[in-house]
Amino acid sequence: MCGIFGYVGKRNNASEIIFEGLKTLEYRGYDSWGIAVRIKNKKEFILDKNTGKITAPNLNKNKFKKNSDFAIGHTRWATHGRVTVKNAHPHLDCTKKIAVVHNGIIENYEVLKKDLIKKGHSFLSETDTEVIPHLIEENLKIEGFASSVRDAFNLLKGFNAIVVSFAPSSEIVACKTGSPLIAGGGDGEFFIASDISAILPYTKKVVFLKDNEMVILGKKLQIFSLPKGIKIKPKIEKIEFKVEEASIGKYKHFMLKEIYEQPKVIVNLAQNYTSEIKFLSGVIENAKGTFLIGAGTAYNACLAGVYFFSKISHKHVNTAFASEFNYLEDFLNKNSLVMALSQSGETIDVIESLNRARNKKSKIAAITNVLGSSIYRMANYKFLLNAGPERAVASTKAYAAKLSVLLLLSYSIIGKTEKAKKMLLDTAKEMERILNDNKSKKKIKEIARLMSLNSHIFVIGRGVSYSASLEAALKIKEVSYIHTEGLAGGELKHGPIALISRGTPCLVFAPKDETYDSIISNATEVRARGGVIIGISPQNSSAFDYWIEVREIEEGSYIAQIVVVQLLAYYIALYKKLDPDKPRNLAKSVTVK
Ligand code: AGP
Repeated sequence: MCGIFGYVGKRNNASEIIFEGLKTLEYRGYDSWGIAVRIKNKKEFILDKNTGKITAPNLNKNKFKKNSDFAIGHTRWATHGRVTVKNAHPHLDCTKKIAVVHNGIIENYEVLKKDLIKKGHSFLSETDTEVIPHLIEENLKIEGFASSVRDAFNLLKGFNAIVVSFAPSSEIVACKTGSPLIAGGGDGEFFIASDISAILPYTKKVVFLKDNEMVILGKKLQIFSLPKGIKIKPKIEKIEFKVEEASIGKYKHFMLKEIYEQPKVIVNLAQNYTSEIKFLSGVIENAKGTFLIGAGTAYNACLAGVYFFSKISHKHVNTAFASEFNYLEDFLNKNSLVMALSQSGETIDVIESLNRARNKKSKIAAITNVLGSSIYRMANYKFLLNAGPERAVASTKAYAAKLSVLLLLSYSIIGKTEKAKKMLLDTAKEMERILNDNKSKKKIKEIARLMSLNSHIFVIGRGVSYSASLEAALKIKEVSYIHTEGLAGGELKHGPIALISRGTPCLVFAPKDETYDSIISNATEVRARGGVIIGISPQNSSAFDYWIEVREIEEGSYIAQIVVVQLLAYYIALYKKLDPDKPRNLAKSVTVK
């Protein structure tokens, strides 16, 4: 959940290079950020650290802008230590010759810190990270820089990725046992970053660092195994794809832009991936047990997938939160298929589950939106959502894309891919209608204003719409900070209905499917206790206080209906004067456990 970027080489604007790179990595964490710079021919680093969004650094205001050839930077999502300038990365050792940035959690940092303080080291921050430069400083008394980093890293417990720069030798050493790191360059300069998007503007030659590997960037790029330090031949990959730039265009926020991009994303999936869908549906058909795993929105899509495969393909597919799958995977075997859904392709809970699946010799399929991401590269079978970069933390178009792919797969298994493709085209049209229906949007904004005044909101649905109610609740809570609970309608009377009081808003997904009569009864029960019912349905009902129309498109309705709640969440955030793109405490990609 942090962004890392480092440069060493022949250019003389290293601080600018890092600053620009951090802006592309900001989605990974935006509590604070910092840059450590070595001015040409100096032997120490100087720091520029800030809390909040990435704006022009102090370094650029003076002479450093044009004569720095070595710098590392970091955007932080706080784990240990409050959001302060002192806790921002990079962190230096006592001599200021060593600068470190880190992604992960050092589980044993207190013990290490106590020992270092006894040895006379002084600490400026509350972070776990700050033990790293001081451990290396100690090791440097008896060994070289690279082995000092390796020995320090081998002491750290937990999943970590560190990038360490040493001013006297102009070297960068990076190690990882979790969280992505990509090195790139050559011809007298090297880059290292958490995400390929920071590196590609400068070089297409990259190495994806694997877990338990260490890379040395100095005169050349060398890779060694951890913990022993055995030399490994680097696998240099030439990246042919361009990382699509995410420009905000005419929109005020990326979240709104990405909501409006959904019809185009769905049409693209319906029209251009028939052979890939047929191939992947064959893989699912032949597997002895398929497990869909994901986190957050990706999990909500997995759950919808379970209903699709049951309703449409009459196939039993399991699902679990990726973070829970680690406790559920004992029955995996070599005939199992674990299908990971992940927009970023970097979610550590999913990566960890896939590592366990791989140890059981299960096959892995990845449905992701980022080419070259860790999960994409781990998979035996890969399917790209091709939804374009999704920059808002709240996932919208990637969710619609995942549901579209799952719908195509479900119908493809029963040989009816064409039916699904047509259904998706109709779904895109209905989404377009809702997005451009000013009367409907006016109503949605009014409902959002009312909901923004509440501290509790409920969402209910049944069947596939139960997964939609979870997704709706997640959208609203993560951008508006209002406690919102998604429930299976049938569960209300088993406890949650006790929470309903006069004026409690309750969103009800009521598509005209087999759940309709029952969910309308649930809505009536909530209303009878003072709840305010917002019905999302093809037709109005006496059970509704407000009705937003989503026309009947068979299973396509389950995709079209979510756009109503995405808009609601967006407008609630605006009414509460919040930034829907960068909600507090969150990051776009959860790369630490
Ligand atoms: C979704 O709006 C959230 N930002 C979050 O739940 C997200 O879906 C989750 O972290 C999984 O991310 P991924 O799809 O990149 O794996």
